[in-house]
Amino acid sequence: MNKNVEFAINQQINKEEFSSRLYLAMAIWCESNGYPGAANFLYKHAEEERIHMLKLVHYVADRGGQAELLPIDQPEQKYESLLDVFDKILNHEIFITESINSLYEVTMNEREYTTANFLQWYITEQVEEESLFSTILDKIKLVGADKAGMFHIDKELEGMAAAMVVAGI
Ligand code: FEO
Repeated sequence: MNKNVEFAINQQINKEEFSSRLYLAMAIWCESNGYPGAANFLYKHAEEERIHMLKLVHYVADRGGQAELLPIDQPEQKYESLLDVFDKILNHEIFITESINSLYEVTMNEREYTTANFLQWYITEQVEEESLFSTILDKIKLVGADKAGMFHIDKELEGMAAAMVVAGI
């Protein structure tokens, strides 16, 4: 496997691993701050990020390389509100999209078209993730300080977490 591509994939593995840890930290905060539905949703999403990481790890192995696990930063563990949590999630996903795009650029520069093709899954996934989190964030902004509205959003997130279980995540 091309060394520049392998290096860039290892950086992405680290970012997906961090994403999983970040959503775990957010889930823990939600659980202790009265948002059980958001907590379950984020626990599930932390697992999903782990799957994103593993797909890259297996890809490197399939191409004759060996994934390298780099140190992971400690995520923020205190948040101001549910709005703060989802605002930070959306910003993080935008950062991940940029990172996937840069990785794709490396594969193009190195003429590693097989890896570029493999990365298409991540490109599509990022469109879905940004859209999902931006929809949730809009709803949270809409209810503002209304407690009943916030309760409803938490229930909705609980439903989404349950659907992720059904989907086998
Ligand atoms: Fe692995 Fe949420 O991007």
